[in-house]
Amino acid sequence: MDADIAANPLREGLRLERTPQPGVMVIFGASGDLTRRKLMPAVYNLSRERLIPPGFSVVGFARSETDETHFRESMLDAINQFSRNRPAQPAIWETFAEGLRYIQSAYDDPTGYRTLANLLGQLDRERGTGGNRVFYLATPPSAYSEIVEQLGKSGLARPTNADAWTRIIIEKPFGRDLESALELNRQLASVFQENQIYRIDHYLGKETVQNILVFRFANGIFEPLWNRRYVDHIQITVAESIGLEGRGRYYDATGALRDMVQNHLLQLLSLVAMEPPIAFDADAVRGEKVKVLHAVRPYQPPEIPSLTVRGQYGPGTVGAEDVPGYREEPDVDPGSKTETYVAMKLFVDNWRWADTPFYVRTGKRLPRRVSEIAIQFKRAPHLLFRQAAEGLEPNVLVLRIQPNEGISLRAGVKVPGPTIQIRSINLDFLYGLSFGADQPEAYERLLLDCMLGDSTLFTRGDEVETAWRLLTPILEAWAANPPPDFPNYGAGTWGPAAADALLEDDGRRWRRL
Ligand code: BG6
Repeated sequence: MDADIAANPLREGLRLERTPQPGVMVIFGASGDLTRRKLMPAVYNLSRERLIPPGFSVVGFARSETDETHFRESMLDAINQFSRNRPAQPAIWETFAEGLRYIQSAYDDPTGYRTLANLLGQLDRERGTGGNRVFYLATPPSAYSEIVEQLGKSGLARPTNADAWTRIIIEKPFGRDLESALELNRQLASVFQENQIYRIDHYLGKETVQNILVFRFANGIFEPLWNRRYVDHIQITVAESIGLEGRGRYYDATGALRDMVQNHLLQLLSLVAMEPPIAFDADAVRGEKVKVLHAVRPYQPPEIPSLTVRGQYGPGTVGAEDVPGYREEPDVDPGSKTETYVAMKLFVDNWRWADTPFYVRTGKRLPRRVSEIAIQFKRAPHLLFRQAAEGLEPNVLVLRIQPNEGISLRAGVKVPGPTIQIRSINLDFLYGLSFGADQPEAYERLLLDCMLGDSTLFTRGDEVETAWRLLTPILEAWAANPPPDFPNYGAGTWGPAAADALLEDDGRRWRRL
C-alpha cells in the first residue's frame, strides 16, 4: 500500500494520522452480528493501521455464555471472514487480542456493571487506558433503555477524571417513531450530556457520502447550479439485492421506512439539499442538515397514498438464483404486511428548492446493489440541434455511493463525422482508479471520530426527532390502511408498478440502473 501511495500523487495524505488517546471500547451485544461483521473488523483495521494506540482495549459485554478464550477465537474468526484486510496477520492479531476481554451478564443485572467497572479500572492500570471509555450499544434496541439506566446508576456514565472522556454510541434504529425517539433522547439526556452521545448512521462514514459536501463546497462551479433554476429533480436510490440475511425477526418488526428511509436516505437527502455550513464542524454541519429536514413539506394524511409507495417482494430470481418471497423467509410472519420497498416524493420548501421534487426509493431483493444520487438538470433552454439531438438526454450529475464509487456527469457531444449528430456520454471519475480500491470502511472512520471527540458525522438528537416527525404520519397512515396487494413485486425486479407511476404521473421516470 505504501508503494502505491508513493506512485500515485492523488493518494498522498490518505494516511494522515489522527491518533486518539488510549481508551477502552465496551461493546454491549458483543455476541451479535454487528460486532462480528462490522465493529470488530473496524477496530482491528484501526489497530493494524496504527490509527489507535497499542493499549486500546475492547470489552465484549453480552448475555451469551462464553469465556475469554472462546470470545477471542470467535472475534478472530469474524476478522478472517469480514475484515477488508483478511486473514488477520498473526503478529498484529496477537497484540490486538491481548486487549480483548469478555463479560457475560444480563443487561439489567447491576452485578455485571460492577464487574465491568472493576475490569475497566484494571485495564487503566495495566494497559494505560487513562479512564477513557466508549460504550457501544450494539444490542437489539429493546435493551438500550436498560443499559443506559444501568450505566447511569453504576456511575460508569460519568468521566472518570477531569482529563478523561466517556462517550456512548447508539446504533440505529433510534426509536420506532417520534414518541419512542423522544423518550430515548430524554432517557439518554438524564444520564449523559449531549456531547457524550454519538448516534451512528454508518452511511455518514462512507467516503462517497462525505464527499457530497466536499464536492459541493470545495468547488466553485456546482453551487451556482445547485437549485431550482437549473435542477429539474433529484433521484436518490439505495437498492439492495440481498434479502434478510438471517435478520427476519428484526426486519419484520421494522420495515424499509424505519430501517433505511428514516436514517440513511434522509441523511443523503439532507447532504444534497443543505445550505453551505459556515464551518466544517459538528454544530454548523448538523445545524444546516436539520434545517433541511425542517423544510421538508410535511405529509398530510390524505396525500400519503399519492406521494408514497410501499412494496413487499414475492418469490423471484436475483442474479441467477431463485429466492423465496419475503413471507417465506425465516422468522417472518407468513401473512406479514411489512414493507421491503419504499418510494416517496418529497419537497423541500425553501428558496433553493421550492417545487423541485426529490424522489427517493429503497428496497430489498432488487436486481442489483446500487446506491446513487442523481441530480437531473433542466434541458438547455434553446435547442440548436433539434434534428440531431434525438439521442440527447438532459444533463445528469450522478454521485455513485456504491458500488463503482465515483461521480459522472452526463453530457451531449458531437458524434464524429460529416454531419451533426449528438449523443450523451459520461464524464467519469472513479475512486478505484484515482485512489486505489482499498478504502476504509464506514465504521472505521466513525469509531475513530468518536474516539477523537468529533461528532460531525453523527446524528444530533433534534435531527433524529425531526426525521421521525416527518415519517410518523406515513407509518400511521400505512398501519391504518393495510396494503391489499402484498407481495406486489417479484424478487429481482425494480419494485412495484406504483413506484413507476409515481414519476410517470409527473412526466418523468426512474433512472435505469
Ligand atoms: C443497515 C440496514 O442499516 O444498512 C440493512 O439495517 C441494510 O437492512 C444496510 O442492508 C445497508 O448498508 P450498506 O452499507 O450495505 O449499504
